[in-house]
Amino acid sequence: MLSPRVLFDPSTLATRVADLAAEIRAAVPEDDIHFVGVLKGAVPFMADLIRAVPGGVTIDFIAVSSYGSGTSSSGEVRMLKDVDASLDGRHVVIVEDIVDTGLTLHYLQELLRLRNPKSLRTACLLSKPSRRKVDVPVEFIGFTIDDRFVVGYGLDYDEQYRNLPYIGCLDG
Ligand code: IMP
Repeated sequence: MLSPRVLFDPSTLATRVADLAAEIRAAVPEDDIHFVGVLKGAVPFMADLIRAVPGGVTIDFIAVSSYGSGTSSSGEVRMLKDVDASLDGRHVVIVEDIVDTGLTLHYLQELLRLRNPKSLRTACLLSKPSRRKVDVPVEFIGFTIDDRFVVGYGLDYDEQYRNLPYIGCLDG
């Protein structure tokens, strides 16, 4: 298996995730925050993020398929697993690993908005703005990166590399 080149090491990730947690809590100072993680890529980010947010927090997960195996988008988004609990009247934050074309988040935001949350925001560890096909609002972004394929800290290539404690790139 190829060794990815390190882009963000574990301590850089930890520092930024702690900052994001503070930003999110500042946006919802009083109430519980209901985090909805997008399986599977957001799992490490979500686990670190929720532990850094002070106060009341609840969590749920949703799964969609956007990419098949490989590195290019099919452009199609399909729900694989819905959230378990109602979003009605809650402060919801979608937690996603990366926003690339924006199609996945666009689909999720439209879907979850219909569930009548009190507020709906999105936290993404990474953003590749140059690849955007639809304009999606992302209130909390960890790092903005160029158009390159990244793996690690939840992100995969063909289901591999999710367990790396850092984010690296495979394409130089
Ligand atoms: P979008 O719908 O094009 O914004 O794609 C979002 C999804 O594509 C993410 O949740 C990832 O699963 C996947 N993805 C996009 N870019 C990368 C990457 O560089 N590495 C790994 N997965 C990626």
